[in-house]
Amino acid sequence: MGTLRAAILGRGDGWHVRSLHDSLARRGIEAAYLPSTRIVSRCAPSGTPLIESGGIELGSLDMLFVRSLPGGSLEQVIYRVDALHRLQDLGVRVINSAAVIERTVDKLFTLCLLEKAGLPVPATVACEKLDQAMEAFEELGGDVVVKPIFGSEGRGMIRVSDTDLAYRVFSALEQQHYIFYLQEFLPHANRDYRLFIVDGKVIGAMRRTGRNWKSNVAQGAQVAQVEPDRAMKALALEAAGVFDADYLGVDLLRTVDGRNFLLEVNGIPGWRGFQKATGIDAGDVLVDHILGEISRKAVGRV
Ligand SMILES: Nc1ncnc2c1ncn2[C@@H]1O[C@H](COP(=O)(O)OP(=O)(O)O)[C@@H](O)[C@H]1O
Ligand SMILES: [Mg+2]
Repeated sequence: MGTLRAAILGRGDGWHVRSLHDSLARRGIEAAYLPSTRIVSRCAPSGTPLIESGGIELGSLDMLFVRSLPGGSLEQVIYRVDALHRLQDLGVRVINSAAVIERTVDKLFTLCLLEKAGLPVPATVACEKLDQAMEAFEELGGDVVVKPIFGSEGRGMIRVSDTDLAYRVFSALEQQHYIFYLQEFLPHANRDYRLFIVDGKVIGAMRRTGRNWKSNVAQGAQVAQVEPDRAMKALALEAAGVFDADYLGVDLLRTVDGRNFLLEVNGIPGWRGFQKATGIDAGDVLVDHILGEISRKAVGRV
């Protein structure tokens, strides 16, 4: 194997980008940082780079780690994801793949795939109109969590259990042209579980205990390492099996009456809190998985 070329799509000053950069550097690979908002794509005569960012020709990379895909207009998001597809066509190992990112960036899409696979997810309704949202509120038992459909770290997520409040909240959301994403509220002990998966294996797990029903680290939750029981582990692995990803964060909720539900599957999972809780550098594990695969392929070619 010659020297491998790697880049990380994401903000250069972000903790995960730096951590991943260091994991690669410890293995002799110098990775460039590329902002996801500065990709230039060409359909042009040969000789010019097809896709570049910051003066780097992305099509000649061996691997590209996607660490952020910021929201934006519909065309911005599609443009960036299409660039990932094209890079894969050019032979770049994109981590996670464009297909995984597409299927995990949208909470509803993810949940429907899990449900199709027969896995337990909270009863959920998505719709566009106020009257439909009010109907869904009743259908879901009059106690719902209203979530942004694209990831949020718990921000902007509210619990509504009063009909008048539901009407006021939904009216405001409708005026702003939001998609309603409503979920039955599942009573739990202010905690959820994050199982971290690399290459189809659970590499560790943590419990997040919140100050209220939102147990996101970004909302002040405390993290602790846990050994997931067999049921949780099996559920997380089944969920991972739906996506065929290099790495994933699977969020599980256990209700007060002991049932497990899949809450979300994160295709660009962070591991800062996870590393604090478990001592495991998930970036190291991920890089070893990718490099192992590349070297096995190289050996196969000889
Ligand atoms: N249906 C629900 N019932 C009860 N609590 C929920 C429900 N959905 C989410 N939560 C709580 O809110 C947190 C954030 O929800 P999640 O779906 O993981 O979105 P994100 O982490 O992307 O903001 C969860 O960790 C959990 O504590
Ligand atoms: Mg979550």
